[in-house]
Amino acid sequence: MSVDELLDEVAADPELSGIYDEARAALEKAGDSAALEDIRVAFLGRKSKLSSLLQGIKELSPQERRRVGRLGNYLKGWLESSLEERGRTLRQREMEKTLAKEQVDVFLPGRLISYGTRHLLSRIIEEIEDIFIGMGYRVVEGPEVELDYYNFEALNTPDWHPSKSPSDTFYLGIPGNDQGDVLLRTHTSPVQIRVMETTPPPLYVIAPGKAFRRDVPDATHSPMFHQVEGLAVDEGISLGDLKGTLEHFAKRMFGAERRVRFRPHFFPFTEPSAEVDVSCNICDGKGCRVCKGTGWLEILGAGMVDPNVFAYVEYDPEEISGFAFGMGVERIALLKYGVPDIRCFFDNDLRLLRQY
Ligand code: DAH
Repeated sequence: MSVDELLDEVAADPELSGIYDEARAALEKAGDSAALEDIRVAFLGRKSKLSSLLQGIKELSPQERRRVGRLGNYLKGWLESSLEERGRTLRQREMEKTLAKEQVDVFLPGRLISYGTRHLLSRIIEEIEDIFIGMGYRVVEGPEVELDYYNFEALNTPDWHPSKSPSDTFYLGIPGNDQGDVLLRTHTSPVQIRVMETTPPPLYVIAPGKAFRRDVPDATHSPMFHQVEGLAVDEGISLGDLKGTLEHFAKRMFGAERRVRFRPHFFPFTEPSAEVDVSCNICDGKGCRVCKGTGWLEILGAGMVDPNVFAYVEYDPEEISGFAFGMGVERIALLKYGVPDIRCFFDNDLRLLRQY
């Protein structure tokens, strides 16, 4: 007997045809998997008509039992496979719907990722490093939390020096044993001592880093700022070497036409000492607002290393000599890029920082 004939028999059966018709209609109407589950419970569940029919089979006459058993079980099987097939169709349809909804337009331009830029100060520091590395210098670093000994004493700075006042220097209020107070370094010059202490001459180093002073922030002051220290120690180093070195630096940093001039000054750790100006890169020395009409911009302090400093690190000033210099990174950035206010570097306004 073929499947179709069996179904015909079910359809003709007085007891089963109702179930069959209802199930067919329900299956057709079912719009999603949840509806199919309801149908399964209603038609195949323990309390369904078909189940009770099959359960009551024992009470029937042998002939009836055979018929209801055969057709009932067939209907049950048909229901199960129809549910499954309908389920497949519905799932397929649901999947097509989601796919249509979640279609990806592969030609849509991607979202731009916003990359950071290096901070202008970091770039200037690297530029300075490059210039000096080109002259054979090595880059070294020292601690930002320093001892009085390195920040002042070994740099030949007397105890009464005004920069040692607690109103100028951040003291941390903890003892540094026999090396004096612990403080935030007020300049990068202590790195000179630390390098000479551990390295015999000849020595050509620069030391970039942060420095701290108790200044109230304004357009040209920040309690935290950056310096690059330089130190060259060798046999026969002269003031001429210092001047040539700084001139080369100024030309590379501010333009080939720049000139430098030395103004006598005083620093405890150099003798003689000078403040070094570079001819104004805005007006080329004619005088403008940036150079305050002078034609010159002060960019750093420098001098020949004081023999007293050599004594602290046990270098012999009879055999070697050296020069040192220290420059403010923010100041160079302000001058080179015409930044109006030093606070611009630190208040994290990306609109400003991205310009450079
Ligand atoms: N340390 C000095 C300052 O912060 C700058 C300086 C001047 C450094 C002369 C030097 C130097 O090495 O020789 O003002």
